[in-house]
Amino acid sequence: MAVRYPLWMGLLLLGAWGPLPTPAQAQLSVQPNFQQDKFLGRWFSAGLASNSTWFREKKASLSMCKSVLALTADGDLNLTTTFVRNNQCESRTMVLRPAGPPGHYSYGNPHWGSVHDISVVETDYSQYALLCTEGSKRPGHDFRMVTLYSRTQNPSAQFKEKFAAFAKAKGFTEEAIVFLPQTDRCMEEPE
Ligand SMILES: *[C@@H]1O[C@H](CO)[C@@H](O)[C@H](O)[C@H]1NC(C)=O
Ligand SMILES: *[C@@H]1O[C@H](CO)[C@@H](O)[C@H](O)[C@H]1NC(C)=O
Repeated sequence: MAVRYPLWMGLLLLGAWGPLPTPAQAQLSVQPNFQQDKFLGRWFSAGLASNSTWFREKKASLSMCKSVLALTADGDLNLTTTFVRNNQCESRTMVLRPAGPPGHYSYGNPHWGSVHDISVVETDYSQYALLCTEGSKRPGHDFRMVTLYSRTQNPSAQFKEKFAAFAKAKGFTEEAIVFLPQTDRCMEEPE
């Protein structure tokens, strides 16, 4: 299996990303009493904001992807993302390792040498989730991203507004916030 994907692709797949637990992590908030079992299952990545270069270049062409979260035998999270690429459905799996307090995860990509630090900042489990990711690849290539996860492909205005406010509170401008267009393709179960 080919292992080298463009950076933007990996970022898109994960839906949210960040660096290894650092002192900064202590400042990242997380959903109080986070219940991982209720967070599992299918989500759609409905909104994104990022200051990464790939995002600035690609944001106009991105569409919604489907993300399915399941437990692995080791107690990590299996994040399988399905999206349209070259007119075909493609799936990629990433294993998120619990790191720190419940709701924090880290993901390391051996091929890029990158590490992502992901937090579930807020969720009601049944409708929406707000995620924050900080990523580092090499000096000068750190980035931040926030993601709106929705259980349906049509998040209500209430959750879109919540996400926009969250992104702005994290320092993103209006132009950096994108609501991803729905796509019929590759969103059905089973994959
Ligand atoms: C993750 O889930 C996918 C889809 O169900 C499965 O094909 C894959 O084997 C799983 N990987 C791990 C490490 O659990
Ligand atoms: C994105 O923001 C983070 C945190 O403010 C900063 O460290 C990083 O250098 C920024 N990255 C880009 C590509 O602007």
